[in-house]
Amino acid sequence: MCGIVGYFGKRKASEILVDGLRRMEYRGYDSAGIACLFDGQIGLVKNAGKIKDLRAGVNASTDASILNATLGIGHTRWATHGPPNELNAHPHLDASGHFAMVHNGIIENYKEVRNGLAQHGVECISDTDSEVLIQLIGYCYQGNLEDAVSEALKKIKGTYGIVVMTDHEPGKLVTARCGSPIVLGIGKDETLVASDASAIIPHTRDAVYLEDFDMAVITDDGVEMLDLQHAPINREVTAMDWEEGAAEKGDYAHFMLKEMFEQPDAIGNAIRGRLDFDMGTAVLSGLDFSPRETALIGRVLVVGCGTSMHAGMVGEYAIEEMAGIPSEVEQAAEFRYRNPIITPTDLVVAISQSGETADTLAAVREAKHKGAIVSGLCNVVGSTIARETGRGVYLHAGPEIGVASTKAFTCQVSVMLMMALKLARTRRMPRHEGEELCGWIERMPELVEKVLTQNDAIKAVAQKYAQCEDTFFIGRGYLFPVALEGALKLKEISYIHAEGYHAAELKHGPIALLQENTPVVALLNNIPGKDKTLGNAEECKARNAPVIAVVSEGDEGVADGFDDVIVVPDCPPCITPVPTVVALQLLAYHIAAARGCEIDQPRNLAKSVTVE
Ligand code: G6P
Repeated sequence: MCGIVGYFGKRKASEILVDGLRRMEYRGYDSAGIACLFDGQIGLVKNAGKIKDLRAGVNASTDASILNATLGIGHTRWATHGPPNELNAHPHLDASGHFAMVHNGIIENYKEVRNGLAQHGVECISDTDSEVLIQLIGYCYQGNLEDAVSEALKKIKGTYGIVVMTDHEPGKLVTARCGSPIVLGIGKDETLVASDASAIIPHTRDAVYLEDFDMAVITDDGVEMLDLQHAPINREVTAMDWEEGAAEKGDYAHFMLKEMFEQPDAIGNAIRGRLDFDMGTAVLSGLDFSPRETALIGRVLVVGCGTSMHAGMVGEYAIEEMAGIPSEVEQAAEFRYRNPIITPTDLVVAISQSGETADTLAAVREAKHKGAIVSGLCNVVGSTIARETGRGVYLHAGPEIGVASTKAFTCQVSVMLMMALKLARTRRMPRHEGEELCGWIERMPELVEKVLTQNDAIKAVAQKYAQCEDTFFIGRGYLFPVALEGALKLKEISYIHAEGYHAAELKHGPIALLQENTPVVALLNNIPGKDKTLGNAEECKARNAPVIAVVSEGDEGVADGFDDVIVVPDCPPCITPVPTVVALQLLAYHIAAARGCEIDQPRNLAKSVTVE
């Protein structure tokens, strides 16, 4: 969702800010802006629309502050309160024009605060919840910016990541967080602030992650870390380990395409050093339970949203099947609000690529509060969920920029399988079976590579169906979550109505919608239940729906009589989701490309959903 960047240094702020915002475009946004402070004046450029429009506005600006400042703030906004227009875009100024702020998060009591301000003659002009905060800061100001910020923050309810500046104190930036991430980049003679490491990485690798209720005051003297009562705090500097160019799309047309093709390497990184063939188990240092502790785990609850939840479903199946431990997966928002029953022997696994999804984070807090053992499975190093769970496992998939998640999913499934293996080996799985599974997990990059070599064939299938408006994806067992994920990929990036259904459930309603222009993607890989799904696919065909059959190599005969076929490598049921989903990712990608869609930044979507 929204992106924040701030710069304090010696270089031209406007360029660094706009470049930082460009690097965060992938998060999803609909307006953008920057404010720069020079010679006691704040200059502002903002607009609805894209960063290229903002860049044009900045280049055309004759404002001395925009031209000369070496200090400033910038923002990409994903509209929540009020439409995406120039007035609602950040940075927001207070009524005096002396204070500027960018804000991520939601001010829940904004109406109350706005009414309170109005009674003191301070009128808000935008539709946003954010504006009340800078008005409040301006109102509270008595000569010291950090005092005003902490005073104002005490009066609001909700979440925030903010950066604030004032022309009364031109050599200062103040930033604070509660619920929305803020990371500082400590460079030579400069400090950057951002909501996302991607804006900082070109400038420095030394990062300081703020925690909730932290405030940082950046001046020529360096960075001072305080809590909201102004007591000094210490936060260590950590090195960000992204490879140069990891967040660039290189020769690929889209980040999504690049990330799909990175999957063999990404999965390789996720499993490297984690398979112990001798013992036929997995070594996940974040889950360093003793065999005795593991034996005491009574249930595994998996929480997540979107693609991560689908990966959790595969994990649920694997944990029950292999380890014999009851397991459930639940949408994180549902989990947090329905007062779940949690016992001290429950292991709660929170899955999140970004590690910042608001509902998943809240589910983690709820589970911790109720005494569960909580583990995080995140991709973004240093993210809030990773830090709050402590007992975490990183995916090591590298930065995922495309809004439609691809390599994170296959890495999440890889890690869930290793988790299931580890749990299984302390229960009923014999060593030789564990060793065999290690072998299959190790082969996953090769299986994915095989699917990627069929890119052209899948593209040809995609082009046949690019004009349809409704589709169904059906599967059973381990392929049910894959059907859900395949449908999610297609709807996210092509805007085609796509539904993932359990193959058996199709008859209970959706079959009424089938007709000759409603393709059904039937996952007919060679796993238990294949014959039943085959029968369901025949039922679709009998109703004139075109059927795209996904089948296992060596079992192509299953596709006889269907309209199109995609062949994926034959492998054990628990491994099947990984190569199969890659075929569906490619299918969705090529359909969206044929329709001319904006693949990396689909309309209305955000990469990291930091509001409920
Ligand atoms: C958003 C993204 C999805 C993602 C979901 C959960 O909806 O667009 O791709 O699966 O959030 O995100 P997380 O970072 O928690 O995995």
